[in-house]
Amino acid sequence: MKVLITGIAGFIGSHMAELLLLKGYEVEGIDNFNDYYSTKLKRINAEELIKKGIRIYDRDLNDADLYYTLPLDYNFIIHFAAQPGIASSSSFETYLENNFMATKNILDFSKKQEDLKLFINIATSSIYGKFATQTEKASAAPTSHYGVTKLAGEQLVLAENRLGNINACSLRLYSVYGPRERPDKLYTKLIRSAIFNEAFPLFEGSLSHKRSFSYSGDIVEGIFLAILNFQKCSGEIINLGSPIQKTTQEGIHTVEFLLNKKITFNLLPPRTADQQETVAIINKAKVILGYEPKTSLAEGLKNQINWYKNTIEKYGRI
Ligand SMILES: NC(=O)c1ccc[n+]([C@@H]2O[C@H](COP(=O)([O-])OP(=O)(O)OC[C@H]3O[C@@H](n4cnc5c(N)ncnc54)[C@H](O)[C@@H]3O)[C@@H](O)[C@H]2O)c1
Repeated sequence: MKVLITGIAGFIGSHMAELLLLKGYEVEGIDNFNDYYSTKLKRINAEELIKKGIRIYDRDLNDADLYYTLPLDYNFIIHFAAQPGIASSSSFETYLENNFMATKNILDFSKKQEDLKLFINIATSSIYGKFATQTEKASAAPTSHYGVTKLAGEQLVLAENRLGNINACSLRLYSVYGPRERPDKLYTKLIRSAIFNEAFPLFEGSLSHKRSFSYSGDIVEGIFLAILNFQKCSGEIINLGSPIQKTTQEGIHTVEFLLNKKITFNLLPPRTADQQETVAIINKAKVILGYEPKTSLAEGLKNQINWYKNTIEKYGRI
């Protein structure tokens, strides 16, 4: 079975590629290596995959001519490529191009595949809005350009499924962390601050945010289960994340404990688009996929700290 992964050089996509390879799948990927965060890190991720025999197309999903060069024999397409995060430095147009237009293009390409079994869209709990604490039946209420464009992309995917053009599902992920976590996200920033004795940029009010911190290894196992259960997944939206809720404060304490360091803060104004509370309600994932995340926050963070230390030792600061 052959799988195409978009956004393969990124945080979660690179883990997905490795897991599928391990399971005996043929894996190819696309990434435009954009500079939203350290391209050095994306190149390191990609090099590790290329060494294992994975082919990576260094292209943008919005390049029309890309679709003349790609094969038409993929059995699964997993669509991770996106403009993530809610950074004020990302314009609305960037979200629109990468979360909506890019999704339209990869969908048009998917419709040409000769034996596509499932298109897996990678969505986000940000679609639910300030409080992502409900089942998949809850109304969408995003509060950021990221959430709004990810919702629009998800609907584009599901529309193709409703029209009978492709079998597709959408998996909504919750605060993923682990080795290779994006440098703009909580735990990579915390670990970096602790190791380099730098103040951590803390958004006012964020210590009490409640989060479903979900380990990358558990997340890609869940996505793999969607491949194994592709017939049951068609047309479905499924939450994928940890059902255990922790505050950001608890997350900070865990990093401090594991590194035996006290982290200092640089207080920044609150980010209005931030979610207040998330918790992954995964009853549907349990029933359809048999999903059962197993990694504790301390265990997952230990792996992430080891990865960070090894990476900076080998490649310098990322
Ligand atoms: N990390 C999380 O906590 C989290 C939570 C919920 C959902 N998600 C979703 O998971 C997916 C992956 O997130 P991530 O954290 O790994 O992000 P990431 O930025 O590390 O990975 C995305 C990759 O896509 C590539 N990309 C972006 N636009 C592209 C385009 N137009 N053409 C080709 N490549 C492009 C980027 O270069 C990057 O390598 C995203 O769809 C995101 O919305 C992530």
